[in-house]
Amino acid sequence: MKLFISLTPRQTHKINPLIHSTFFEYFGSVIYDGIWVGKDSSIPNVEGIRKDVITGMKEAGIKGARWPGGCCADHYHWKDGIGEKRYNRLHPMPGKVKVWRHEFGTDEFFTFCRLTGAEPILVANTATGSPSEFLDWYEYVNGPEDTLYGSMRASAGHPEPYNVKYWGLGNTDENVWWIDYDNPVAYAQDYLRFLTVIRDLTKDLHIIGLGLSQRHNTPGWVGKYLDHVTRQKRAKGPDSLSIHHYIGSAKGNYKNCGGAVDFTDDQYYNSLDAISTYQKDIDLHRGYISDHTNPKYKTTICFDEWGMWHDEASWENETRQRQTLRDAIFAACSLHVFYKNSDIVELAMETQLTNLLQSLFETRGEECVRTPTYYVFKMFKNHLEGNLLTVNQNTENPMLDYVFSMNGEGDTITATLVNKDLYKPCTISLDLDEKWEISQSHIIHTENVRTQNSFSEPFNIVDGEFPQKNMDNITLPEHSITRFVIKRTQ
Ligand code: AHR
Repeated sequence: MKLFISLTPRQTHKINPLIHSTFFEYFGSVIYDGIWVGKDSSIPNVEGIRKDVITGMKEAGIKGARWPGGCCADHYHWKDGIGEKRYNRLHPMPGKVKVWRHEFGTDEFFTFCRLTGAEPILVANTATGSPSEFLDWYEYVNGPEDTLYGSMRASAGHPEPYNVKYWGLGNTDENVWWIDYDNPVAYAQDYLRFLTVIRDLTKDLHIIGLGLSQRHNTPGWVGKYLDHVTRQKRAKGPDSLSIHHYIGSAKGNYKNCGGAVDFTDDQYYNSLDAISTYQKDIDLHRGYISDHTNPKYKTTICFDEWGMWHDEASWENETRQRQTLRDAIFAACSLHVFYKNSDIVELAMETQLTNLLQSLFETRGEECVRTPTYYVFKMFKNHLEGNLLTVNQNTENPMLDYVFSMNGEGDTITATLVNKDLYKPCTISLDLDEKWEISQSHIIHTENVRTQNSFSEPFNIVDGEFPQKNMDNITLPEHSITRFVIKRTQ
């Protein structure tokens, strides 16, 4: 197969770095052990945060962090997590951990962001919190030192405001149905109430309102929410709409995806085919957005929870799951969907950073394993800030999935290609003139697609060197992910 690559970057499709974001919250050992070990821990840490996770976040090119949830945002009362003395509180959410520890709170989250270079994305508790509690938090985070909560932040050693731009108002309609978020107008009213407490302060903020979650089956929910908000002529509508969507056997619609490690060939293909629902979600939200275009700003999409959720990741098992090469291929193809829609997808968060669902790291005390998904992010990070390139092919192969992008200087092309076929390699040639040459080639591939990275065998799946320098007759092995960095030579 020949791939014809147009060298004109698509200016409308710049790949926003925040498409490589993560999210984490207070479930199982996601934060305690996975991120926070405390300053006195024997586990190597910087200011209480695991060193291996800090290094790994940077190496994987993770550019944004969403916190405190997820569902936990709907129950988070931020004042529990500031000050010298922190108390445990009851944890009302599913799972074995029934005590909510608060050593990791607002200031620790910003320490994490400073150390990893991640853009902070905060989610307000519109479910069980109040607008005034939100105002206090906003003031603690963004207020000057001469305000009540700004001065508390200063006393905690942070005189400068954190200047957070990204604020989610609510997590999802999915877990708060007791308070009627099935009703879009009920959510719209909360959205407006929370926005009103910071009124004119919202101008330079990026507000994320709810879009569709997976459970959602109220027809037209997003449209009705946007109708209500945009009817208030002077209110700021959402700068992004959030989408939550998990694929895998734990989720009703995707029983046909098999187990985390035990899956049939058909179940492998079913899980990859299901990624087309991510495209459908985006198309649906595009429609809602274009019906409610506000000339003052452009609404984008924040795909703020995505990943595979296998049936072994139950709440009893602290939603931990094993990952195989299939999870890496799933992550690669999902990222491709977000890049291809980078004119409207501005943020996306893989779920979650550590020890839960499609994590980047699995930790257990001293040990820290980089998952197959981690290696995909690491290999794909060259796409960030690049513009999408148009590519045509001379034959069809539905098993091949790829994205090509060009950096801002116009001297580097990054190509990532997935051969989904379980048995057949795929041979391609890149149609580029002699002014270009491959400078780096990497591959994620193992003979068995069910191979995993585990505590006992952490390096089964890594990003290895791929001995390919020539642009003709490149053979992409079966079930593999390849990346080429192609440089202009003259
Ligand atoms: O990621 C686990 C949970 O799944 C999140 O807390 C919630 O938002 C979603 O339903």
